[in-house]
Amino acid sequence: MRNLTRILPVDAEGLATAAALLRAGWLVAFPTETVYGLGGSALDEAAVARIFAAKGRPAEDPLIVHLANVAELPRVTTALPVSAMLLAEAFWPGPLTLIVPRGPEIPLAVTAGRPTVAVRIPAHPVARALLREAGLPIAAPSANRFGYTSPTTAAHVLADLDGRIEAILDGGPTTIGVESTVLDLTTPIPTLLRPGGVSLEALRDRLGPVLVGQRQPAGSGAGLASPGLLDRHYAPVTPLWFVRGSPAAMQIWLRERVRAELALGRRVGLLVPDEDASALADLEVDCEPLGPAGDVAQIARHLYAALRALDQRQPTLILARDLGAIGLALAIRDRLTRAAAGRVIELERP
Ligand code: TXA
Ligand code: MG
Repeated sequence: MRNLTRILPVDAEGLATAAALLRAGWLVAFPTETVYGLGGSALDEAAVARIFAAKGRPAEDPLIVHLANVAELPRVTTALPVSAMLLAEAFWPGPLTLIVPRGPEIPLAVTAGRPTVAVRIPAHPVARALLREAGLPIAAPSANRFGYTSPTTAAHVLADLDGRIEAILDGGPTTIGVESTVLDLTTPIPTLLRPGGVSLEALRDRLGPVLVGQRQPAGSGAGLASPGLLDRHYAPVTPLWFVRGSPAAMQIWLRERVRAELALGRRVGLLVPDEDASALADLEVDCEPLGPAGDVAQIARHLYAALRALDQRQPTLILARDLGAIGLALAIRDRLTRAAAGRVIELERP
């Protein structure tokens, strides 16, 4: 423990304090519309080193640089592809991160030695106010300990990083709840490295063809397009099983699995839409409300808080189910697949 982490309100004084800390090279967590970010000056190598240390993140996993507006892009990149301008107009400010060629002002520590840099203009009013007031590009990974679930509230950040960062701007729960979409624009055809807040359908609408980056087996860290493609990530401590199939088949599987586990004296946590929670309410399970299956936006918003809450109650296992691949459901599938770290049950071929 270095110091106590201060919780700052999002008033003028809180923002001024946060901006001053960032300018001085210290770390401040702040809300974005996706998840909370662990911010430090992207122009200051010492600050960047502090980010990696606070998170316990391996130095080969590069950071996203956050900007207040497009006018600052020349500070970060040397050459913007035409596609970037198209996407910027459609989706910025917003939950989209673009991989573009790195500019000389950005230290190599930020990009883990890569010739490319990840850049995003967030939409959250607190993030925007902070970026403007600090007057700096801010490097910010999600504000969690490395490999653990991303934070969607200031309390989540505090639980992971208390004493490791100077301050947290408390802007309440984030609205999207899963991380930004990461799109590589340095490949001949744009490549989706991480599904997120902007859907693959929306990207294809604007760009035409978009390739989908392949997931890598856990542990094969070297030479990946994006270390974020690693299998194990976003994981709770409790073993999580992720089931895929038709809604009816998944519900039958969930019931059978819960009954089998209960018969063995185990405690089961359920991370499922409201319909499944009601259908299984006769069984003695621990459940966190996510929202109706048809409202993936609501489920995404509640997903990480529910996962953390279940995890903290230390059931023997957590069961989660698929919601499909349309819109935000693809990001949810991606995160739950990683959280499952290989414990994925396919009930039928899609
Ligand atoms: O929503 C978000 O994106 C949040 C908020 C705070 O902006 N940030 C976030 O950062 O999720 P992080 O560090 O947890 O995830 C960034 C992802 C990682 O998978 C990283 O490997 C990838 O982006 N990435 C960063 N720079 C890259 C680069 N130059 N090339 C390829 N992938 C990169
Ligand atoms: Mg992260």
